[in-house]
Amino acid sequence: MEHLEKRIVPALLNWYDYNARILPWRSTPTPYRVWISEIMLQQTRVEAVKPYYDRFMEELPDVKALAEVSDDRLMKLWEGLGYYNRARNLKIAAQTVMEEFGGELPADYEALLSLKGIGEYTAGAIGSIAHGLPVPAVDGNVLRVVARLLANGDDVLKPATKRWMTKDIKDIMPKDRPGDFNQALMELGATVCLPNGAPLCEECPWDTVCKAHKQGNELAFPFKQPKKPRKREDKNVYLLEYEGRFALRKRPEKGLLSGLWEFPSEDCKTPKGSSEEKQFWDDVEKLTVQFDKIGKGKHIFSHVEWHMTGYHILLGEKLLEKELVWVSREEMKKEYAVPSAFEFVKDYLLTKNPE
Ligand code: ADE
Repeated sequence: MEHLEKRIVPALLNWYDYNARILPWRSTPTPYRVWISEIMLQQTRVEAVKPYYDRFMEELPDVKALAEVSDDRLMKLWEGLGYYNRARNLKIAAQTVMEEFGGELPADYEALLSLKGIGEYTAGAIGSIAHGLPVPAVDGNVLRVVARLLANGDDVLKPATKRWMTKDIKDIMPKDRPGDFNQALMELGATVCLPNGAPLCEECPWDTVCKAHKQGNELAFPFKQPKKPRKREDKNVYLLEYEGRFALRKRPEKGLLSGLWEFPSEDCKTPKGSSEEKQFWDDVEKLTVQFDKIGKGKHIFSHVEWHMTGYHILLGEKLLEKELVWVSREEMKKEYAVPSAFEFVKDYLLTKNPE
């Protein structure tokens, strides 16, 4: 088998009918519910997504509610999921859907693609699962399944590989069950044809047709060109305290975690970058009455990793910096979304250093 063949489809659908996980967004797959779940599931595991999804749906049950939510509330609902632009794009797309599509996500692949944050995968998922359109939805799970099934060594990170695999899937897609077929492929990848460790081939509906399995070298696929190592950045992060309140500021509009709250931090290589930053840290130094080390934290982004050291600084006078907000422990918990990169400082504040 050089390419996928239609004859293998029934075994997969039959397997899916018996083995599909029960997931909150599967019970009533409306376009809105499918959209939100698929965006959350990008970069985040199913188990981690579930509680976020339920909370999000309760507070923002439809496109209109999402289009009207405040940015701060949206960030709070997303806090901990990471890749915050996904949430910002959701709101922008919801506004477009209100203005241009009468509040309903369109049942048209190209129209879905035109919305902010909706790429080929998400348009395919919404189109097929919610609207029954015969369009593929190819994620990393699906690429792995296809690469193993065909024992194909093309680099799955290359667009050309994804293109031909997508066409193969489109060619065998059953027109009466496109959503189930796409989900079955993903489900197989997520629960049986596992990455890294050993795949559970004895549970696979395709064990007799899988070329990699026949060769006994499932783990050789999918092939990926090794990536460049991530860049390391060392940072100091400061918990500034004055009269039981703690300083947060917004990160710059460009770069990692842009526009989100942070505990004031500095890059160790370029401390005190701009003249305003220099003034800021000089002022902190002057007003410091106590200085304790909190500990270390590490956060991994796609291309960069942060190695952080946290310090707790008690100030003798309030720092009059207009960009700072002074937040109580309670507000830190309930109102401010602090990205999980800074969790080690927040954790210190709320659990190791409670009032
Ligand atoms: N991962 C992301 N979306 C999925 C879906 N709809 N079904 C199974 N796994 C998924």
